[in-house]
Amino acid sequence: MTTSDQHIDELMDQYPPKPEYLIGLLQDIQDQQGYISYGAMLLASEHTKVPLSQAYSVATFYQSFRLDPPGEHEIKVCLGTACHLNGGQQLVDGLSRKLQIEPGETTDDMMFTLSTVNCVGACAIAPVAVVDENYHAGATMQKLEREMRKVIDLSSDKIMGEPNA
Ligand code: FES
Repeated sequence: MTTSDQHIDELMDQYPPKPEYLIGLLQDIQDQQGYISYGAMLLASEHTKVPLSQAYSVATFYQSFRLDPPGEHEIKVCLGTACHLNGGQQLVDGLSRKLQIEPGETTDDMMFTLSTVNCVGACAIAPVAVVDENYHAGATMQKLEREMRKVIDLSSDKIMGEPNA
């Protein structure tokens, strides 16, 4: 059993083994691991006595569940009405071209995950993009490319700063 499975076991202890607790358990697993792995889904399905295929249907129905590991950095582009009217979709298209992924996907190097969201509550500064936890007002491709270079530099500094194993 991996450390990660042990953590999931601890989470499951908090939930009665009943189908109605599947969503809460999946949310907790995602909060802890950043996504729901196949192994975690299997454990959650067995624990709540929900057939695996049904548990997957539930997880894919809710957009907030992620079934693949996220990249090191997440770029979320708001496509709520105000952002859409102010160029949100062009940002998504530009980022898709730049990163060569579609929304919901992660780059091959696991550096960036691109996603879209519906209104992050900052309509006055549309279009808005959120890189990791940082909101970018009046986002443009130029600004976002600058931010992406910055986070890549920070990531490589982090790696370079690690002691040799
Ligand atoms: S529509 Fe984008 S912040 Fe509200």
